[in-house]
Order: sequence, then C-alpha cells, then structure tokens
Amino acid sequence: MNVNSSSTLLAVPTGPLQISDLPPINEGAIASDIFFSLVIPTYKERDNIHSVVQILTQTLNEYIPEDYELIVVDDDSPDLTWEVAQFLTKEYPQLRVMRRQGERGLSSAVIRGWQVARGQVLGVIDGDLQHPPEVLTQLLSQISQGADMAVASRHVDGGGVSSWSAIRRFLSRGAQLLGLIILPGVLGRVSDPMSGYFMVRRSSIAGATLNPVGYKILLEVIGRGNIQKIAEVGYVFCERKEGESKVTWKQYVEYIHHLIRLRLSTGRLKRINQLAANFPMGRFLRFGLVGLSGVFVDMAMLYLLSDPSTLGLPLTRSKIIAGEIAIFNNFLWNDAWTFADVSMRQQQWHQRLKRFLKFNVICLAGLMLNVLVLNVVFNFLIRNRYIANLIAIAIATVWNFWVNLKLSWRVTDVK
Ligand code: GDD
Ligand code: MN
Repeated sequence: MNVNSSSTLLAVPTGPLQISDLPPINEGAIASDIFFSLVIPTYKERDNIHSVVQILTQTLNEYIPEDYELIVVDDDSPDLTWEVAQFLTKEYPQLRVMRRQGERGLSSAVIRGWQVARGQVLGVIDGDLQHPPEVLTQLLSQISQGADMAVASRHVDGGGVSSWSAIRRFLSRGAQLLGLIILPGVLGRVSDPMSGYFMVRRSSIAGATLNPVGYKILLEVIGRGNIQKIAEVGYVFCERKEGESKVTWKQYVEYIHHLIRLRLSTGRLKRINQLAANFPMGRFLRFGLVGLSGVFVDMAMLYLLSDPSTLGLPLTRSKIIAGEIAIFNNFLWNDAWTFADVSMRQQQWHQRLKRFLKFNVICLAGLMLNVLVLNVVFNFLIRNRYIANLIAIAIATVWNFWVNLKLSWRVTDVK
C-alpha cells in the first residue's frame, strides 16, 4: 500500500519543464513507481477539492486499487486550497500536495506535478468537477489497449458542453479554427485541442522540454511529445459546483502566443511528414470528386438561369443561386459518401441541419478565399486567368476539406 510518507507538502521542482523517463525515487516512498498519476491543478478550489478527491478516490479504487496517486498542485490560492488538500492527505494516503509560491499558471502546474509523479501514465483533470471523473476509466482502458494518449473530448460521440454561453462556445470554436490554420499538424490530430482532461504515457513525453503558455497544456504535449496513437473519449463538460472559471481574455492572448511559438519551434519537416502520414487522402479524393460534380452543377445552373436562350436572369444573381445549389449538391454527396462513416451516427434532422449550416459557412468562406487567391495569382503571379483559377480552386478545396473535416463532421451534441 502506497503510504504517503507524511502530510508534508511536496518539494516544488525547479529548472526546465522536463519529464524524466523513470519515475523519481521520492524520499521515504515505499514504491517508486505505480501505474497512474493524476495531477489536479488548483487555484481557489477550497470548496471543491474535498469532493474532487473523494470522487476520484472512489473511481480509481474500483479500477486500479493501490496503483495510482493524486497530486494536487496549488498556486498558493488565497483561499488556502493547498492547506485543505494537505489536511485531506491524512484521510487519503494516495494524495500528495504541492504548494507553488513563485511560478504560476495552469500548464506549468500540471508539468511540475508530472515531474514529481511516480506513474507510468500521467494525467490531468480539473479540480472543479467539470471534468466527469467516471470518464477516467474509459481513458485508462484506451491507454491499456495501446494508445499513447487518451483525450476526453467534447466534440466526439457522447461529447458536449452543458452550460457554456454562446460567446464562450464561439470563442472555443474560434480558437480551434485559428489553431487549425496556424498549427494543423497539432490541432488537427484531436477533435478537442482545448481539452484540459487527458492522460499520456510517460515514455511518450520523457525527455521533451515542455514550454507551455497559459491553459492549453494538451497542445504542448502533442506538439513536443513523441505521440503516435491518440484515442478520444466523449464527455460532457459539466457545470461548476462552486467558485468560478479563471479563464479571462489573458488566456486567449496566451493561446495565440503559444500557437505561434509552437509553430516556429516544432520541426517543420517532422510536422509535414506527420501531417502527411495523418492526412486522410482517400477521403480527400472523394471530397475532390464531389467538388468536381459541384462545378458541373454550378455551370449547368448558371446556364439555365442566366443564358439569354433560357431565363436570362442577371449574372450575379444567377451565380449566387447556382453557387448555393452547387454547395447543397456537394453537402448531400459529402454527407452520404465522403463522410458517411461519421454522419450515419448523427442522423437526426437537427444534426444534419447543423452540419449543413457549418458546411455552408465554410464553403462560402472558401469561395471568398477562392476569389482572393484568383486575384492575387492573376494580378501578381501568372497573367493567365484559367491557371490562376485552377490554383485558387485547389487552395479553396483544401481549405474546405480540412475545416469541414474538423468542424462540420464532428458535430457536438449539446446535452
Ligand atoms: N495551479 C493552478 N494555477 N491551477 C489553475 C490555474 C493556475 O494558474 N488557473 C486555473 N487553475 C485550475 C482551476 O482551479 C481548475 O481546477 C482548472 O485549473 C481549470 O480552471 P478553470 O478556470 O475552471 O477553467 P475552465 O473550466 O474555464 O476551462 C477548463 O476546461 C476546459 C475544457 O477542458 C480548462 O481546463 C481549460 O483549459 C479547458 O480547455
Ligand atoms: Mn472549470
């Protein structure tokens, strides 16, 4: 039985944020390594921490009794969360507590906790019960089945958010879209890159110097770790019981800073061949064929609507109607063929409507990108409108495919 050596606080590691490949031998520890270490970063969670520890203990005692530890890493909360947690160590022997008084921040707190962790698998969960503890057993089973990382996602089957405002939802999706553009090789590997609820094999990140900013620890781990297989488990992000979210605009600014820094510092070639290896070429070819059918539909409708020998409507109005009909045509084919494996699990009409609306918005944005690229290429690069148009169509098609793949056909069921 892992007995916590005493109810003293853990020493706070200093130096680079690097995870060792072997669990540290802790002073006085009886067993130096166990299977699973779960870090709980806390800031002003005094009213939540007891129930969090209690429920996590109950969940893990059933699944991996005596083979796990909980590590609370508190950033010197003014409500003395660390002191409440320290007191709990008497009742919960597998609980260890770290009080940081210098360094601050959610991401670095998680890594400092992982640096003192003894587990072969390192996890993180919020300390406010917004991440349902019961999902842990599904994540752990994914790791046992060979995944290097298991992420709790709000954007796969069974996922969702309960009480977020439209603004927070929009910001979260907007942040994800921005990430897909700046760092597709990282953000594109998971459906919920904003998740703060996941676990990873120690061996997959051992030796990597992590250098996170702000809240998005998952980006840093995927960006700098050596992670082959990622599994995802759907979960519903619950309402807070006590206290409030510490997310402010500052976290969003830090997020953009983090994206750019990761983009600049992770190996370009490594990213490109990882992206190529993960790129769903078969699906992309189907998407391209559907797009081609859309070109014929667009041309045929333009002829029927605007040609003097038919209806003879004004060109712009005809083009807009023809374009929209072509988008509808493409949606039907993509939903029934290109992404059939995903859409067949979300057949209700409101789910299809949500997919169609997202598809529409993304394709209209793609149309604008198409016009922009056509003008740039034709006016500054190649004075041949048809070659310029082909380049523009190719770029817009990759945009439409990639963003629809990540946003439209991963519909979130709001519970
Ligand atoms: N040690 C430490 N230091 N902990 C912190 C800090 C900090 O500076 N800031 C927040 N925390 C702790 C909180 O106490 C809570 O346990 C957890 O980190 C999440 O903080 P919240 O402020 O509740 O974030 P949220 O609920 O809005 O968003 C969370 O869930 C999202 C979805 O998984 C965060 O984990 C986001 O990163 C995540 O995207
Ligand atoms: Mn929270």
